[in-house]
Amino acid sequence: MSNRIRKVSGSSQTKAVRNRIENKGHKEHSQPIFVTSSFEFDSAEEMRAAFADENDNNIYSRFSNPNADELVARMCALENTPAGFATASGMAAVFASVMALCKSGDHIISCSSVFGSTHTLFTKFFPRWGITTSYFDASRPEQIEKLLTPNTRMVFVETPTNPGLDVIDLEWLGKFCSNHNLILNVDNCFATPVLQKPADYGATLVTHSATKFIDGQGRVLGGLVLGREDLIKEVYLFCRSSGPAISPFNAWVLSKSLETLEVRMERHSSSALRLAEWLEFRNDLSRVIYPFLKGHPQFEIAKRQMRAGGGVVSFELNGDAKRGARFLDALSLCSLTANLGDTRTIASHPASTTHAKLTEEERLKVGITSGLVRISVGLEDPADIIADIENALNKSK
Ligand SMILES: Cc1ncc(COP(=O)(O)O)c(C=O)c1O
Repeated sequence: MSNRIRKVSGSSQTKAVRNRIENKGHKEHSQPIFVTSSFEFDSAEEMRAAFADENDNNIYSRFSNPNADELVARMCALENTPAGFATASGMAAVFASVMALCKSGDHIISCSSVFGSTHTLFTKFFPRWGITTSYFDASRPEQIEKLLTPNTRMVFVETPTNPGLDVIDLEWLGKFCSNHNLILNVDNCFATPVLQKPADYGATLVTHSATKFIDGQGRVLGGLVLGREDLIKEVYLFCRSSGPAISPFNAWVLSKSLETLEVRMERHSSSALRLAEWLEFRNDLSRVIYPFLKGHPQFEIAKRQMRAGGGVVSFELNGDAKRGARFLDALSLCSLTANLGDTRTIASHPASTTHAKLTEEERLKVGITSGLVRISVGLEDPADIIADIENALNKSK
């Protein structure tokens, strides 16, 4: 974790634009990409000291790289966290955050509605290393109390959840975890630090799939684990040995993306709210879910802890089980692709794609019915997004 970042003072937004790798003498205005596996030393002594952590020289890009450091510094400024590590994907971040900090016999409490691959890690892989997980309904976090055991080490949540958009009260949860000395690990992928800063409510770790809104243009994969210094030290040591480091190119793309994150999130959110409000007036949908709709069960909590509702709207189609497929096939502007948080609007059907590995019972428990559609609202003119969805809804009846 090199400290060779030129840091500016100002708001977190200013830091996300201006904190940067030191200029290297060419007076380049845009930061270069450090495509190098390793870094040179001037002497044997300097090299020894680097390996002994007596200086902050970069050694090897599996450990640290200037582009990764810049991405981490900007994300730390945005999330109000003291330290972080950047990984090759969001799943590598989730995996590292657990593997580095939990051991055999430890217990995790997670909300049941988490991203499909996260759920697979918790239910299929972590038990092989003796780490077990109990689930609570994200709309009823008070259930956590009953799940607590003497071995509970971590509480893991997404808020808003994917794709059900449940919102968990972070203030309450932060206090609960602090009172019970638990690591609170919040996947902040949907809100991004522009809309919500979990560390301000006591989250000790904040994980990210940077592949989503942080990139924002559907180009590269990346992830981050951010948080308390002592915890990140363990994550760093685990990653340094196990090797999920982000590539310099991906770190460069993501760091540049942070310069526009705030304006993008404002537009994603205003267009998503406009779509959600429009969908509410249709009579062929059984549910429209968006955190900033007054009818959302946790609307008050969302208003308190989020600056805006985010870029994802979910809704449930009335009709037969095949209507979801007919709706997706009738879209012409929106993309059908396995991503979200892009400039381009994306429609997806979680039951047959991202959450297909869950059993039907598990899916229904977290509200993923066969009619549920998730829209990641992009940066096109919102009138055109609505027109495409209106056309597909009418055609698919
Ligand atoms: C909430 C959430 N967390 C984690 C991930 C995993 O991220 P990645 O695809 O970058 O590994 C995703 C991916 O969709 C996600 O939606």
